[in-house]
Amino acid sequence: MRPAKQGESWKKSLGTAFLVASVVYCVVWGFRGAFGRLRSPGCSGKHALPTSYTLPSGDKIPSVALGVWRAEKGKVGDAVKTALNAGYRHIDGAWIYGNEAEVGEALKESGVPREDIWITSKLWNDFHAPEDIEPVLDESLSRLGTDYLDLYLIHWPVAFKKGKIPREVDWDLTNNSYPTWQKLEELVEKGKIRNIGVSNFNIRRIQNLTANPLKIKPVINQVELNYWNPQPELLKWSKQNGILLEAYSPLGSAERVKETLQVPEVKKIARVLGITPAQVYISWHVQRGTAVLPKSVTPSRVEENLQITRLPEHLFDLLENAANSHKPVRSVDPHWGVDIWH
Ligand SMILES: NC(=O)c1ccc[n+]([C@@H]2O[C@H](COP(=O)([O-])OP(=O)(O)OC[C@H]3O[C@@H](n4cnc5c(N)ncnc54)[C@H](OP(=O)(O)O)[C@@H]3O)[C@@H](O)[C@H]2O)c1
Ligand SMILES: *[C@@H]1O[C@H](CO)[C@@H](O)[C@H](O)[C@H]1NC(C)=O
Ligand SMILES: *[C@@H]1O[C@H](CO)[C@@H](O)[C@H](O)[C@H]1NC(C)=O
Repeated sequence: MRPAKQGESWKKSLGTAFLVASVVYCVVWGFRGAFGRLRSPGCSGKHALPTSYTLPSGDKIPSVALGVWRAEKGKVGDAVKTALNAGYRHIDGAWIYGNEAEVGEALKESGVPREDIWITSKLWNDFHAPEDIEPVLDESLSRLGTDYLDLYLIHWPVAFKKGKIPREVDWDLTNNSYPTWQKLEELVEKGKIRNIGVSNFNIRRIQNLTANPLKIKPVINQVELNYWNPQPELLKWSKQNGILLEAYSPLGSAERVKETLQVPEVKKIARVLGITPAQVYISWHVQRGTAVLPKSVTPSRVEENLQITRLPEHLFDLLENAANSHKPVRSVDPHWGVDIWH
């Protein structure tokens, strides 16, 4: 998302109209909030959850994205269009998801201006060698139908030797991401990427990377965060170190979503607030200070997942404590012979 261009005064009028409408709406809801236990969805002045976070580059990343991992061909395009229609402006994809062409087609057909949408892609493990990065980035760009990404992440702290079957780990590039990072910095300077970050990095690996004389620091770490694996230490450390976390598998991923939505504390919070369990979780993630990337190809769920609201403190604490009082379990934990988590 880039700053608005000149000569878009009709948009400004529309914006003003929207602002006025929002203020009126919030005042009305404020009264209801003061007298009942009803809370405005998304607007109670300073109590509203953030709709975006501002990165060091000045770019604003929308707090809720549509995730498209395992969003099947033939379905992902419609999901993206439904999402954009519903008001999403952030799509979380990756080269390895194999659906960037259909995502790109949907972005084009939606008619939403490119600069209004935040597009993330990720560098797959096969391409960490500096000379392999630009070609595979170009492939993502061309499939997505754009000439820049808002965010490019190193997908895993794991490098494979390119084209080896069976897979072989490249230990030098796995233990030290600096050569990969330097190339990403170069591609930012070249204008093909606006922000760079990492995914599935633990504190030790981020410190190993930032101990180098970086031109651009990692601003984002996309990691698994959900009821089963809430990672409070990583969250605290990331806030202290100016790194925004993005919560992947926020609903426990496909294998556990049913169980996740039936957690008693969450059902209770949903009942009290008159929202759905999925909305409780997605709101909780943003209230914890992370971006959140729920995936759905079901139109009603895509719409449902964007409606977030601040949880009253005692209900937020109820969920936070419940999530932190069992042994953490990961939903996504690939076995590549690299100790990713320690
Ligand atoms: N960086 C990484 O290594 C990494 C790893 C995993 C995920 N991610 C990112 O994070 C995104 C989300 O993670 P995820 O796909 O693992 O899991 P998720 O978003 O936690 O869960 C997705 C599952 O929940 C269902 N669902 C979604 N909204 C629902 C609702 N309101 N009510 C009931 N069910 C609902 C979906 O079903 P339907 O689609 O059938 O509606 C799907 O089965 C991915 O798409 C990807 O962008 C990144
Ligand atoms: C990489 O790190 C692993 C685990 O710490 C270690 O066993 C291995 O010897 C290292 N390899 C290289 C080439 O640095
Ligand atoms: C990062 O770790 C690797 C080995 O695990 C080491 O060779 C390298 O020097 C470390 N980088 C820095 C900047 O400390």
